[in-house]
Amino acid sequence: MAKEKETVPSSLITLTIGLAVAGISLWYGQNNGLFPEQVSEQAPLVDNLFNLMTIIGTALFLIVEGAIIFAVVKFRHREGDETDATYVEGNLPLEIFWTAIPTFIVIGLGIYSVQVYNEMGGFDTVGQVAHHHQGQAVEVANMPLGRMNSLLAVDAEGNSQYGIGATPVEGLQPPDLSVDVMGVQYAWIFNYPNMGIVSGELHVPVGTDVQLNIAAQDVIHSLWLPDFRIKQDAIPGQKSQLRFVATKTGSYAIVCAELCGAYHGSMRTQIVVHDPEEFTSWVEENQIAQNPDLEQTIAVNSRELSDREFMSPYAERLGIDADSLAHLAHHEG
Ligand code: CUA
Repeated sequence: MAKEKETVPSSLITLTIGLAVAGISLWYGQNNGLFPEQVSEQAPLVDNLFNLMTIIGTALFLIVEGAIIFAVVKFRHREGDETDATYVEGNLPLEIFWTAIPTFIVIGLGIYSVQVYNEMGGFDTVGQVAHHHQGQAVEVANMPLGRMNSLLAVDAEGNSQYGIGATPVEGLQPPDLSVDVMGVQYAWIFNYPNMGIVSGELHVPVGTDVQLNIAAQDVIHSLWLPDFRIKQDAIPGQKSQLRFVATKTGSYAIVCAELCGAYHGSMRTQIVVHDPEEFTSWVEENQIAQNPDLEQTIAVNSRELSDREFMSPYAERLGIDADSLAHLAHHEG
């Protein structure tokens, strides 16, 4: 009588494979290195969500690809074997099992991403309203989260405002620094209304609660700060906002992320995060240089001017002449 071939129990093999897949996925999900530096308080929230999705994605990839390779090798055609394969009708429990798993994953990720969006300030009705109308703010603040689901904040003129606003932590506090951002083909103009400064770069102090009030002059642009993990469309006739706290000094990219015309690709500038003393001296330097024109900036009604006329006072300050601005290709050195 032939002795049966001894094998490793399949449950043990499954366990080992499961542990290996889990280990590799957990490691890769947290060490994927696919994102740039984190330089805002909001960045870790986004990255943690992304890393979780990468963990799940890696595990699924290994299981599915592993099963394919295993089947290709194990069930390959052997020489001399002319028999038909076993007919398999289906397996209801198995189908329920592999439908249930993605269902729970998708619902879980959905709930988690809404929570991240809320923590970043995506449901800011409080901050924006509080900034202008204390009375209304209290009303909104008392709403249960479910009712604050409009995705829109309402400003003083009753205009709704898209974007990332005050976080639940910041709540009713107005931002420390407010900057008006204008997107034009093909540049970003940053206006510091309380300081009388207009700049082609965004300068902010580190650790400061900054709000960007975003508008567009001509077509839809998108203000993207990759290292801060925040991005918001600039829409003609529709204000939008971003609110963030920079956590690290240095210069980081600002990119237009919406195809806006022939030179869309060159619509880039930078955000410079200063320590507070450095920022103060930047403000002082620019106020001295720009202050004489402050009145004019406020008086100009952009709607009555052509693009070139509207831009020329800014262009001078940015060190660009109006002609080159008209076909601006803003290359960085
Ligand atoms: Cu502006 Cu692309």
